[in-house]
Amino acid sequence: MEMKKDCPKILEILGFLFFHVFLVQNAYGRTHYHSFVVKSCSYTRLCSAKNILTVNGKFPGPTLKALRGDKLIIKVKNKAEYNITLHWHGVKQLRNPWSDGAEYINQCPIRPGQKYTYRIQLTTEEGTIWWHAHRAGPALHAHSGWARATVHGMVIVYPQQGTVYPFLKPDEEVPIILGEWWKKNVMDIVGNANKTGGEPILSDAYTINGQPGDFYPCSKEGTFRMEVMRGKTYLLRIVSAVMDENLFFSIAKHKLTVVGIDGFYTKPFDTDYIMITPGQSMDILLKANQSPNLYYMAARSYSPAFGAGFDNSTTTGILQYKQNGFNLFSSDPFLPSLPPYNGTLKSTEFTEKLRSLASKEHSIEVPLETDTHLFFTVAVNLLNCTGKPCNGPFGKRFSASLNNISFVFPSSDILQAYYYQIQGVFDKNFPRKPPHKFDYTGYHLPDNLLTPDFGTRALVLEYNSSVELILQGTNVLASDNHPMHLHGYSFYVVGWGFGNFDPKRDPSRYNLIDPPQQTTVGIPNNGWVAIRFRADNPGVWLLHCHLERHASWGMNTVILVKNGVASQTKILPPPEDLLRC
Ligand code: C2O
Ligand code: CU
Repeated sequence: MEMKKDCPKILEILGFLFFHVFLVQNAYGRTHYHSFVVKSCSYTRLCSAKNILTVNGKFPGPTLKALRGDKLIIKVKNKAEYNITLHWHGVKQLRNPWSDGAEYINQCPIRPGQKYTYRIQLTTEEGTIWWHAHRAGPALHAHSGWARATVHGMVIVYPQQGTVYPFLKPDEEVPIILGEWWKKNVMDIVGNANKTGGEPILSDAYTINGQPGDFYPCSKEGTFRMEVMRGKTYLLRIVSAVMDENLFFSIAKHKLTVVGIDGFYTKPFDTDYIMITPGQSMDILLKANQSPNLYYMAARSYSPAFGAGFDNSTTTGILQYKQNGFNLFSSDPFLPSLPPYNGTLKSTEFTEKLRSLASKEHSIEVPLETDTHLFFTVAVNLLNCTGKPCNGPFGKRFSASLNNISFVFPSSDILQAYYYQIQGVFDKNFPRKPPHKFDYTGYHLPDNLLTPDFGTRALVLEYNSSVELILQGTNVLASDNHPMHLHGYSFYVVGWGFGNFDPKRDPSRYNLIDPPQQTTVGIPNNGWVAIRFRADNPGVWLLHCHLERHASWGMNTVILVKNGVASQTKILPPPEDLLRC
């Protein structure tokens, strides 16, 4: 028996045991126990087979289901040859950074053969979120691979018992995970890019539920098909596990009704397409109200960065009407029209429609006054060559930064260093504003702006401060739509604009009534966003661009939120199985 072929099968049985048997109920919600085995398995896509890292042999990985307020206990065993950590993207992890899973930030890696248990108490999350491997090592940590390309899955959080969706109950729900596929080993991409100093290699395909779809070689058979009955309503739960590109997604001749983002409800709105960044998730209602036929769903890149290469291919799935149990079609499916690759206005036309539901049952608490004002510039940089190969633009090496600091991952984790007061792991002086003022979004910026500083610096916040953070995109090297993700928090997107943020004019136009609540927000290309949150979750939390290549170049920083005075406002004690680096 060849082991690798059996990878998915054997583990499906295991998955069944763990997924359906161990459920404990108590008065405060249920506790779900899962066992995740990280191991390598062979998968064939685009006419060639390769070994990929998986959880329980599955790609995409297992979907977890829970009710709002439930607890998830995930025992992870690392049977792979690489270090691994798992991040629960969109889970607040209240007072529990120990289970956040950001490697070298709030935990040490789970090394081959080791185990670690994530204890995840859900709080206000409701809707669709997800989990993924977290190895955003920058260039200096060249051994860090892009494991999350294949190690990821969905988390579905249903309304609590006795409560309902804030929309008509859909007839069915359909998970849709958007992904990105390389024929080469994704674990080598960063290391190789670091050797050359140039761009990481482009992907060979995007995927829908792990399948590239009809437009790629050797892919027709596997194409994801979603069967629908005319007259029914479907809840699409869409996660972008894509590594390096924002995507436009659309379904031919069908309207999409967006009802949630990142695990928070929105006011429903209709659209022909969505723009979804890496890291984001959306809940979308689809009415099967067209004539019975075949319709493509399709996604391709939204990539505004001037001069940057990108995978310009299109992934598709098929929406297939059923009539009396039969499929009656032989013709080609209809194709949706997607916005152009550089469709920045189409992107913002979509994102500006996002509004919190802000109902009585799903109320929001936007900080109306703020006492802490942060301003971070976001830049792709270039380093001068010092002996190393330099295949980046102008014979230099790529780098990236926030407030001109390119983040250097430490070799032991920051949370433990903070908790046990170990000196020398990180500094607490991340700047609250950029080191120099300049025309951030101007053209022909002086060359000296290109070079960042390096550091492992955290920004320290007092417990319960009310924070406004302006994320200012820059045109240093090239502007882009940077999907910024904050661990440990959700935030309100109160404003955005193109060009430079204007502190005199822009705040007067903020939406403080029903701003969308998100955990990942795209900074409009060559523009800014303003986000607000209350720093009520003590811990060590990563803020980073969710474009993997930018994070790998250093577009990260750490927000350290101090304990409050009362005991319920302090970090929980570390778990017994705490790993050492
Ligand atoms: Cu989904 Cu730090 O990432
Ligand atoms: Cu970025």
